[in-house]
Amino acid sequence: MPRHFLTGGELTSDELDALLRRAEQLKRERLASRALSGRKVALIFQKPSTRTRVSFEVGVVELGGHPVVLREGEMQLSRGESAPDTARVLSRFVDAIAIRTGPQAIVDELAEHSSVPVINMLTDEHHPCQALADLLTLRERFGTLEGLRLVYLGDGNNVAHSLMVLGAIAGVEVVVAAPAELAPDENVARMARELASNGATVELTTDALAAATGAHALYTDVWVSMGDSDSDERRRLLQPYRLDERLMEAAREDAIALHCLPAHPGEEITETVLYGARSAVFDQAENRLHAQKALLEFLITE
Ligand code: CP
Ligand code: NVA
Repeated sequence: MPRHFLTGGELTSDELDALLRRAEQLKRERLASRALSGRKVALIFQKPSTRTRVSFEVGVVELGGHPVVLREGEMQLSRGESAPDTARVLSRFVDAIAIRTGPQAIVDELAEHSSVPVINMLTDEHHPCQALADLLTLRERFGTLEGLRLVYLGDGNNVAHSLMVLGAIAGVEVVVAAPAELAPDENVARMARELASNGATVELTTDALAAATGAHALYTDVWVSMGDSDSDERRRLLQPYRLDERLMEAAREDAIALHCLPAHPGEEITETVLYGARSAVFDQAENRLHAQKALLEFLITE
């Protein structure tokens, strides 16, 4: 059975720790590994992407492999061919399948019928590759993950879910502050709590200021995700969760600001926080590459 990476919950805390250490090593020696020499990876994008697309494609090439990028409309999947048949066929050609799509069920179905590893490059429910890079960034800044207070503010979306799951495995104190109407999924919260290791906690709240108090990192994401419909009501609900100077002031003196990007300065984050001295967002974006290379090595060459 191949190893998959669908929610991040597949990793043990030891595996996650080893993966992040490997990512740090690959960051220091960027071209040191040819682990994917002669291997092919299908990268399927049914939604737009800048960071994920480029970091995966570049990552596979740097590891000596060959990426096969497939965009929305280029595959028979978009004309009704089933996910199981797509998985069966691609498994005959490539060494791993990575996909960005809407429903988590598509990723799960691909994995069920694939004989090679399947990687979730974002669904409406989860964005686990992003969370790997986020944890790498936190470890880089603070030297450890255990006991860090990571506070996510805003929409309880895919990014929030993956921080809950992977943060819990890593021993982080994860707090999600969101309006009740846009709170994270209770099932994901339950799953994250079940996976919690090394003293990790997962707390859901509606109080942004109380959440931010004493945080090592304040994190936010867009108010309208790719799978959402925009509305004035949604924006009204999210106003109190904007990552601004007042919330940064409530955090620790050495706290950093995180955002998975793309950002809308002035909306979910102020321009001064996004581009300020405490922002780690562009390191975080770069870390997508290093974390995913470690993930590809782990899944494909295991
Ligand atoms: N953060 C992230 O996944 O960015 P892209 O949508 O550009 O891939
Ligand atoms: N929550 C956002 C993340 C984009 C990287 C979305 O799904 O659109």
